[in-house]
Amino acid sequence: MSLQQVGAIGVLAEAAPGERRVALDPDGVTRLVRAGLTIMVESGAGAQAWFTDDAYREAGATVTARDQVIAEAGVLLLVSRPDADLLGALRTGQCIIGLLAPLTNPDLVNELVKRGVTAISLDGLPRTISRAQGMDALSSQANVAGYRAVLVAANHFPRFFPLLITAAGTSKPANVMVLGAGVAGLQAIGTARRLGALVTGYDVRPAAGDEVRSLGAKFLELSTAITAAGEGGYARELTADERQAQQAELSSYIAKQDVVITTAQVPGRKPPLLVTEEALAGMKAGSVVVDMGASELGGNVAGSIAGQTVRTPNGVTIVGASNLPSDMPSSASQTYARNISALLTYLLDEQGALKLDTSDEITRGVLITESGRIVHPATAAAMGVQQ
Ligand code: NAI
Repeated sequence: MSLQQVGAIGVLAEAAPGERRVALDPDGVTRLVRAGLTIMVESGAGAQAWFTDDAYREAGATVTARDQVIAEAGVLLLVSRPDADLLGALRTGQCIIGLLAPLTNPDLVNELVKRGVTAISLDGLPRTISRAQGMDALSSQANVAGYRAVLVAANHFPRFFPLLITAAGTSKPANVMVLGAGVAGLQAIGTARRLGALVTGYDVRPAAGDEVRSLGAKFLELSTAITAAGEGGYARELTADERQAQQAELSSYIAKQDVVITTAQVPGRKPPLLVTEEALAGMKAGSVVVDMGASELGGNVAGSIAGQTVRTPNGVTIVGASNLPSDMPSSASQTYARNISALLTYLLDEQGALKLDTSDEITRGVLITESGRIVHPATAAAMGVQQ
């Protein structure tokens, strides 16, 4: 258990190239000011998400230069990881809160430890606890990404999504398949349905079946009947045999689709390959595949490249999604702001001090470093550090 006086809460412009989100929107400022906190916002921090400095001022924040926010705020609210410049400016006892991905960024964790920074990461939140649901930034951002993926697909698709009967003829509805029916996948299914497509969903977790059907989509059940529910509601990695059987059988269904959206992830592992080269070769010209799993580690789709759109020799467009929430920065920031402000107020006591009590399940999930050491068991284990 430790107590720290937080001082002002700072909001910075994000450092990652192309990142358009901001950690707190003006409504978030209003909520936190009402809770008795002092908020400092870097001038221009919300510009990419269409939140003006004036809107932040009207909400009760002080808008000022980046250096001053970093120098004076006790807690800095971020969307993604700090860059080297910001890291270099952080001081002992200062706190950062964001989606820091500590499990895959050991260098960042080492630097935070070295600098004595308290790091809190929203991606460690225990998501199945009901009182943590308002803080679940992975879900809120996956929700935006799933919606956006359908719009991206529709934008590349050369035909209508819905059944259209007009004086100029009838257009058949598009067949859309969503592989992986977690938070992003279910939102993609709902969005594609709202656009009028015929939608099929697929997942290796049996619980996903009812969720897919409740959205008015078909649930694909493979004859190999692979079920891979893992811990905490997530999927487990498939064995090599299961993977091969899954890929082979999926290929025949993929060939019938106009649009395929893939969202499959396994925590801490590289995304599973679901759409092989053979599956792509079987698709019709003009079909579109959006790979939400695309990353440097590889994705769900053979040949997809994060942040790029490529075309196969048989005319299939593959979109390697990179940061879909950032392409819808206002909604993504509004929901993220709700999550981060809920977590921040949860971690403050009545005197406005941070209470980081690791006997509490939420705190234990999100607190990564404190007072020059790694306190997060999973991060320590991933880095081979004895606690
Ligand atoms: P995720 O982003 O880790 O994965 C997306 C989907 O890919 C999952 O549904 C997973 O089953 C699926 N997948 C993985 N490997 C696959 C494969 N080889 N083939 C087909 N599908 C594959 O998961 P996400 O969306 O972050 O959460 C998944 C689940 O976690 C939720 O559906 C729910 O059960 C649980 N959850 C519960 C919450 C709550 O209780 N409040 C909140 C958030 C998540």
